[in-house]
Amino acid sequence: MRIIKCNNKQEMADLAYQTFQEYLTNVVDPVIGLATGSSPIAFYDKLIDEYNKGNFSFKGFRTFNLDEYIGVPKEHEQSYYSTMSKLLFDHIDIDRNLIEIPNGNAPDLSLECERYETLLDQYRIDVQILGIGTNGHIAFNEPGCSLASKVHITELKEQTIKDNARFFDTIEEVPTKAITMGLVNILHAKKIILLVSGSNKAEAVRDMIQGNVTDNLPASILQLHRHVTVIVDADAARLI
Ligand code: F6R
Repeated sequence: MRIIKCNNKQEMADLAYQTFQEYLTNVVDPVIGLATGSSPIAFYDKLIDEYNKGNFSFKGFRTFNLDEYIGVPKEHEQSYYSTMSKLLFDHIDIDRNLIEIPNGNAPDLSLECERYETLLDQYRIDVQILGIGTNGHIAFNEPGCSLASKVHITELKEQTIKDNARFFDTIEEVPTKAITMGLVNILHAKKIILLVSGSNKAEAVRDMIQGNVTDNLPASILQLHRHVTVIVDADAARLI
């Protein structure tokens, strides 16, 4: 694991962009794995900025989001579909037909998991962007999950529901289930960039880097991947 410590969000975003470009060297028609949440926002802003300056184009890019809530209408402002549009897709030249997000409203969710899995088999991810939960989850692979999981339906843990409550008016509105890539899908990505900020992530970051590989801290499985860059701010790095 390559660990890069930064002083602020801008520095994180700049370094993430630099690493992203490095990881995409000589890649034709890149396949990118995307995360929602707060962690990648500054990086997405940086991508938009570089696109606006004419330094970067998303032509030919195909994207796969990590996860989507179950039962939240696509047009709801907190669906991951809407979130990604607002944060990134509405502002860049990506072909909308090449954007993939699991459908959390599919009539048959098991079939939807299979559909997403098949696509991920077909298009191997070149660079996966990740955040980490305060409980060490990546995507919505929560503590206690199978280390051999593929795309699946998951129940969000209480801690995750509390953490996500900031995006909703009341905690009752926070979805309790999601479709998520599994840990096997994440490990299959050729390169990974994990973005982490905030003091509340410090323990998860320490255990991910220094602890054993364990289902109690799903992010620890990243120790098994050969090309992971962790970009972390001073608060999140305070225990390492
Ligand atoms: C989001 C996702 C989650 C988040 C994690 C951190 O698609 O899969 O694993 O990356 O919960 O969220 P933030 O960045 O909001 O702290």
